[in-house]
Amino acid sequence: MLIFENVTKIYDGNVILDNVNLKIDGGEFVTIIGPSGAGKSTLLHALIGATKINGGGIYVDGYPIHNFTSVALQSYRRNLGLVFQDFKLLPKKTVFENVAYAMEACDYPEEEIQKRVPEVLDMVGMTDHLSKFPAQLSGGEKQRTAIARALVHSPKLVIADEPTGNLDPEAAKEIIELLLKLNAVGITVILATHNKELVNMIQKRVVLLKKGQVISDREKSGYNFNLGFNEELEILEIQS
Ligand SMILES: Nc1ncnc2c1ncn2[C@@H]1O[C@H](COP(=O)(O)OP(=O)(O)OP(=O)(O)O)[C@@H](O)[C@H]1O
Ligand SMILES: [Mg+2]
Repeated sequence: MLIFENVTKIYDGNVILDNVNLKIDGGEFVTIIGPSGAGKSTLLHALIGATKINGGGIYVDGYPIHNFTSVALQSYRRNLGLVFQDFKLLPKKTVFENVAYAMEACDYPEEEIQKRVPEVLDMVGMTDHLSKFPAQLSGGEKQRTAIARALVHSPKLVIADEPTGNLDPEAAKEIIELLLKLNAVGITVILATHNKELVNMIQKRVVLLKKGQVISDREKSGYNFNLGFNEELEILEIQS
């Protein structure tokens, strides 16, 4: 279980996260929405220990992330799968090498790398593109490669910050389907997005952040975003 307890973050005297309280169970798929500047990325950065919070606590299975030393953070992050808008692939490495590199950097034995890399590339449907360089891939293929890389350590938690921000609607849909597939095999997924069509498609829990505060937190089961989420819809439309 993941707990944000009265989490506060201040940048330059501005309150960016304002007493955020959230509980996320293992196996959930949680989408965090909200206007630009609401604090979505800051919340995710705090969760991966990339930014220090000014108050409150973040507990993962009871462990206080906010108090972790850099060594503890390093091993904690090994258990996370991180996915970003801009893919962060190495341009001079092939698809295979980009994924392998994540394991090499953690000193996995070569034998394990040769076994695991094709497995994760198969999971994301990239088996036909192993020898291509990032410049030879579509946006969706780049993101699928990045997701494969995020999966090499068999993470229990995948954190995706606007993973579809650079993709066309069809590719974006495929990436969300892939995240749903990962969730279906038990991986907890936390997704930050602006995209209301995608939120409609996901049909899972939605947390709305606005000015650093949790404005609503709802299970979505079988009804349309447009019918039940008027306030959220309005906010997204104003901002997009
Ligand atoms: N390193 C920083 N130093 C100062 N202010 C920051 C820093 N990082 C973020 N902020 C501020 O914190 C606020 C929240 O930013 P954040 O990136 O979390 O928003 P967001 O909800 O992810 O927005 P977007 O949808 O545009 O990605 C913004 O006002 C931003 O300017
Ligand atoms: Mg952001």
